[in-house]
Formats: sequence, C-alpha cells, structure tokens
Amino acid sequence: MGRVVVAGSINMDVVATAERHPRIGETVAGQSVMYFPGGKGANQAVSAAKLGTPTALIGRLGRDAFGEQLRAFLAGQGIDLSAVKDSASASTGTAIITLANADNTIVVIPGANAEVSADDVAQVALAAGDVAVSQFEIPQATIASFFQRAKAAGATTILNPAPASAFDGALFALVDVLVLNETELGFLAGVDLGDAPSPQQVTEAVKALIPRRDQTICVTLGARGAIAVCRGDGRLVEGRAVKAVDTTGAGDCFVGALAARLSQGGAIADAIAYANVAASISVQRMGAGPSMPTAEEVRALL
Ligand code: RIB
Ligand code: NA
Repeated sequence: MGRVVVAGSINMDVVATAERHPRIGETVAGQSVMYFPGGKGANQAVSAAKLGTPTALIGRLGRDAFGEQLRAFLAGQGIDLSAVKDSASASTGTAIITLANADNTIVVIPGANAEVSADDVAQVALAAGDVAVSQFEIPQATIASFFQRAKAAGATTILNPAPASAFDGALFALVDVLVLNETELGFLAGVDLGDAPSPQQVTEAVKALIPRRDQTICVTLGARGAIAVCRGDGRLVEGRAVKAVDTTGAGDCFVGALAARLSQGGAIADAIAYANVAASISVQRMGAGPSMPTAEEVRALL
C-alpha cells in the first residue's frame, strides 16, 4: 500500500452565509461568518488521511494566526506536515466565500501558496505505488517538477486542474488521472457544455481532450455523479440523492478519496464509486476540511 502525497494550497476559508447571493453593487444582510480550514490541496490531503491512508502534504503557510490554526488542524488529521514550510513574508492563503442555498462563490488570495517551489517538492521522497496529487492553486512549474519526480519513482499522478486555467501539453503528458468538473472540462475542451450536459456530450468533450490512450479522465457532475473515460470508453457513476448544505470542497473530497483508493491498489472504477459516496457525505456538512468523511462512514453506504 502506497502513500498519498499532495502538493497544493492551504487556505483559511472565511465563509459568510446569507439567504441569497448579492448582485453586483448590492449589499445583503448575512447570517453568520465562519472560519473553516480549506484550500484545495489541504482539503484533498484531509480527505485521503481521514479515510485511513498515510498522507503527506507539501505546501506553505504564512507566519500568522491563520497559519498556526491550519497547521494544528492538519496535524490533528494525522497528515505528515514535514514539507509544509512557513513563508518569510507572505500571508496564509485566504478564501473569501459567500454561501447561500448551498451554492457558493469563492475569491482566493494565494498568499504563501504562490511560493510552493520545486525545492519544496524535492523534500518528499516518492516511491512506486504512491499517488501524487496536485491542483492549480500553486505554480504550474512546481506541479510539473513534482509529477516528473513522481513518474520517475513509478508513482501514479492525479491532476485536478482547478480553478480552471490553461496548461501545456508537457504537464498533461505527466498526468495519469485528470479529475475535473464540467466547467473545467468545457474550458479546456473549448466547448460550451451548458448547465447539465448529457453523458454523451461529456464523453465527446473528453475524447477531444485526451492526448494518450492510457490516461483516465474523470469528470465530476455534482449531484448527478461522475463519468470516467478510460481508453475511450465512458461510464457514468450515478450521484447519490442527498440534501446538500455546503458543497465547498466536495470536488476535493472526491479527489482525495480517489487517490486514497488508488494508493491501496484499487481499480479506477471502484475508486470512483467510493469517491462518489465520500463526496456525497461531505456536501451534507458545513465547511471544506472539516466535512471529509471517515472510511467507516463511506463503507456504511457502499
Ligand atoms: O475547492 C474548495 C476550496 O477552494 C476552498 O476550501 C477554498 O479554500 C478554495 O481553495
Ligand atoms: Na461540505
């Protein structure tokens, strides 16, 4: 059994709840402000660790109160933080989130996350059977260096290209499993998938994107589930009908759970079914980091 090693962002999520989102230029009265551990990298690491997988995180925090709180939270999840360094001058990454009717908008200020470097990723040894995971809240050059090391060691790489941004073929070539949502797929494939694309539309868009036949692309469809396209064949794993209170970090829960299963030697189809259940639990709880389920909770629903 391998480890999950995540190189990625660590943020404090400052969440304002309101009955509805304000329009541009409008002020609405909110109900509460809450602080939750977040950041896509940290969330994915928490997801894998809570499911019982040995997990390490590579990242950067500011020397400030948010940084201290986040470090304590992540250590409490049993994550190896030996490669989480303090920045000399930048603040801890912060996400300003508005939450209304279980839908969110997010503005992320990278702060220290922008400093995660190739030297940082070189501090963690990777081995065959490990799963290396990253997302787009740290510099792409760092991710490329991380994945080069991972491939050289015989590890599996998972890229979650979120938030959506362009990336080059050299990075794509280092990716074994690409996990993205419909918005990110539409952006990368250069197609308008609309609000609720059919499985066929998703599969076609993925085929336009896929550079190598041995790569897997997994598209998460929110409440509708997920589609994995492996070797040109798409298969829909149906979503579970649940009452969502906060979907922040649901995609991260999915990615972390997928990585956890793959590190245990699971097949991709089983890993996706497992991740789908994990994410459906996370949306029923407030916050990103604190909403990740345990292995017992997932197993009870499989
Ligand atoms: O994917 C959800 C995460 O995106 C939040 O926790 C927030 O920090 C942003 O990075
Ligand atoms: Na949640």
